[in-house]
Amino acid sequence: MTEIIPFDLRDGTIFYNGEFVKWQDAKVHVLNHGLHYASLVFEGERVYNKKIFESTKHSQRLHNSAQIMDFKIPFSVSEIDSIKVDLVKKQNIENGYIRAFAWRGSEKMAISAQGNKIHFAIACWKWPSYYTEESKKAGLKVKFAQYRRPPLECAPVHAKAAGLYMICTISKHQVEREGFNDALMLDYRGYLAEATGANLFLVMKNKELHTPLADCFLNGITRQTVIELAKKRAIKVVERHILPEELEKAEDVFITGSAAEITRISNIENKYLYPTPSKTTLDLMEDYQKLVHS
Ligand SMILES: Cc1ncc(COP(=O)(O)O)c(C=O)c1O
Repeated sequence: MTEIIPFDLRDGTIFYNGEFVKWQDAKVHVLNHGLHYASLVFEGERVYNKKIFESTKHSQRLHNSAQIMDFKIPFSVSEIDSIKVDLVKKQNIENGYIRAFAWRGSEKMAISAQGNKIHFAIACWKWPSYYTEESKKAGLKVKFAQYRRPPLECAPVHAKAAGLYMICTISKHQVEREGFNDALMLDYRGYLAEATGANLFLVMKNKELHTPLADCFLNGITRQTVIELAKKRAIKVVERHILPEELEKAEDVFITGSAAEITRISNIENKYLYPTPSKTTLDLMEDYQKLVHS
């Protein structure tokens, strides 16, 4: 097995508060609002053949997430786009992952953090696959999560904000211990929502593509891309509330995300089984790979 070097001990360059610094020098003080109160927003995006896929959409979403969290990122969308390009070059990344993030600093350490400095950093690294090639090939085995996605009235659900991920990490750990690859989350009403870091699609037996309405979780950039790709193939796409029992009416299920790309699910709680990839999924996987590499 190849040894995994912890992220804080790697070499390279990170953009940190206005300058490119040595990877291991990109440090924060332990007393900062981001760490203690999850005052942090972030992006996850991919580099294919040295080109960043949908860079501007990710930078815009980062700004939007910050606005929902009541702070402003000190770099504009176009500045962030160009920093990412420079960093990918400096890091010599051909195929990889970019993490841009912003957080409240240390000036005030109680709940209210009006006027705290907003810090901003971008890192990128080589990272070819989110799931192992083995589990990707076989399709993921997933189990329903112990937590549900909260309503808009209870959390900033449309921000890509750190706090929303605590229920994902706990849920994913629990199902991993039971031998599953990921947890599938319902929403607060009991409808299908998404996986812990990716959106969900069902290829129905009638060949339509159904996906949960993104009214209480992230409307992923990959989700939007896949909907467009499906429409180009004249596949009917339906965004609606979907009950878990309706998984029976699907012939195939997959998840989408910048990290996950399009990854098939072949087993849900050993109850819903999708051993064979549908033509729709294979076509969309091919279209997606063509698009991101174009
Ligand atoms: C919770 C969650 N949902 C959905 C997605 C998919 O979003 P995107 O396709 O924009 O990467 C992600 C990944 O960022 C995520 O973390």
